[in-house]
This record gives sequence, structure tokens and C-alpha cells, in this order.
Amino acid sequence: MLFDFTTIPARECYKLLVSTVTPRPIAWIVSQDAKGVNNAAPFSFFNAFAGDPPVVGIGIGSRRPGQAKDSRANIQETGQFVVNLVSEENAEKMNITSIEFDSGVDEIAEAGLTALPSVRVKPPRIAESPVAMECELMQIVELGESGLVLGRVVAMHVRDDLVLGASKHYTGAGSTWSPPETGAGSTWSPLEIDTPKMKLIGRMHGSGWYARTSFLFQMPRIRVDARKK
Ligand SMILES: Cc1cc2nc3c(=O)[nH]c(=O)nc-3n(C[C@H](O)[C@H](O)[C@H](O)COP(=O)(O)O)c2cc1C
Repeated sequence: MLFDFTTIPARECYKLLVSTVTPRPIAWIVSQDAKGVNNAAPFSFFNAFAGDPPVVGIGIGSRRPGQAKDSRANIQETGQFVVNLVSEENAEKMNITSIEFDSGVDEIAEAGLTALPSVRVKPPRIAESPVAMECELMQIVELGESGLVLGRVVAMHVRDDLVLGASKHYTGAGSTWSPPETGAGSTWSPLEIDTPKMKLIGRMHGSGWYARTSFLFQMPRIRVDARKK
């Protein structure tokens, strides 16, 4: 069936996008207003967009026409935020932080979560989250009533038991980074960070559906020389 996005209402376009572009990772954003009051909320219009510089992007809408959601208003005002990732065990608390509380309500406290000081930015990170990325605002791309927030990651916290090779990150010791492809010269080892153990969740279609990341399969990329052989 063809859906002509140039003629159907915006609400229907939105539903078609969120019902098909799935699963989406969730950025559990902590920001602060000008007075330093914490704000936390989840956003699934989220992904990583570049490695050098390390950039993440989040699409944050408006509460009502002309009024940006608190997270976007805070980021615009202070230029800083923290992206925490959401594991299965934090799903319900994440959901509490999505309640449209009045501005100035600290959702970290409302959800019974623990705020830990960040090292490079003012907003704290969520202690219960397995991964937290401290970010500096690069740019906000205005998209109608939404804004695409592009942030440069300046520090990342990963829970100790998830780091299998703390000095190595994604490559073999002493080697330089190479693309995640199979074949001669490849040093990429995805198990230096124990991603499956994080049990991150993804946002699915409407009505509160989520995906677990515990049903995985592996398919290495193919190098062009191997393909030719
Ligand atoms: C899993 C999940 C994903 C969400 N993703 C988005 C999103 O990508 N963009 C958005 O504007 N709102 C999204 N929301 C809704 C916001 O979390 C919600 O409007 C929140 O109250 C905004 O808080 P704030 O005004 O403190 O920023 C999502 C909610 C949930 C539960």
C-alpha cells in the first residue's frame, strides 16, 4: 500500500514512521535548567551519527506548539546534557521519567533514581544506567515543532563489569582501528565491551511496545577482495 506523505496528515506520517523504523535505541537524557534543577526524559528518535568527532543526535519535540519540551529548552539554554542508555531492569523507571511533569520537577528523584556527578558537564548521570555519555551541544537543527539536537560526546561511563578490555576498547592491544570487516588485517573485536550483558531495550511501535536485545544473530561484513574470490 502506498502512503503519500505529501497528502496525508502529519499525525499519520508520524505513526507510519514510528511503526516501521524499529527498534529504536533510547536516549535517557539528563539536562538541567538555568537554576540547576535536574530533568530526565527518554527519547527514541536517537542514534549515533559520527565517530570522529563522536556525535549523537536526538529528535526532541514540543509540549505544545511553540513550546519545546523541557529537555530541548534546557539543552538550548545550557549547552550540555547526558545521554544514559536504558537496560531492561530500568525500563519502568525510564517510563516514569517520561511523564509530562511540570517544568522544574526533578524526574530523577520522582523515579527513585540516583544522580551521580558528571566529570565534563554539569548535568549528572543516572547511576543505575549501564552507559552514560556526557555531551556538549554542537547544533540544534530546527525541524518544524521538533529539533534535532546534535551533541558531541566528551566522556563515556561504562559500568565496570561490562568492560572486558579497559585499555583496548574495540581493537586489539596496540593496534590501530580498522573497520568492522572480516578477513586479513581485521582487528575488530566486539567483545571488548560486553554489549549483550547490558540488556539494552529498544522502542518499538505504539502502545508502549519495547524490544529486548537478547535474541541476536551474527553476520560479519564482507570485504570486497573476499567477495571477488
Ligand atoms: C520510550 C519513549 C521514547 C520517547 N521518545 C521521544 C522522542 O523521540 N521525542 C520526543 O519528543 N518525545 C519522546 N518521548 C516522550 C517524552 O519522553 C515525554 O514527552 C517527556 O515528558 C518529555 O520530557 P521533558 O519535557 O522533561 O523533556 C518518548 C517517551 C518514551 C516513553
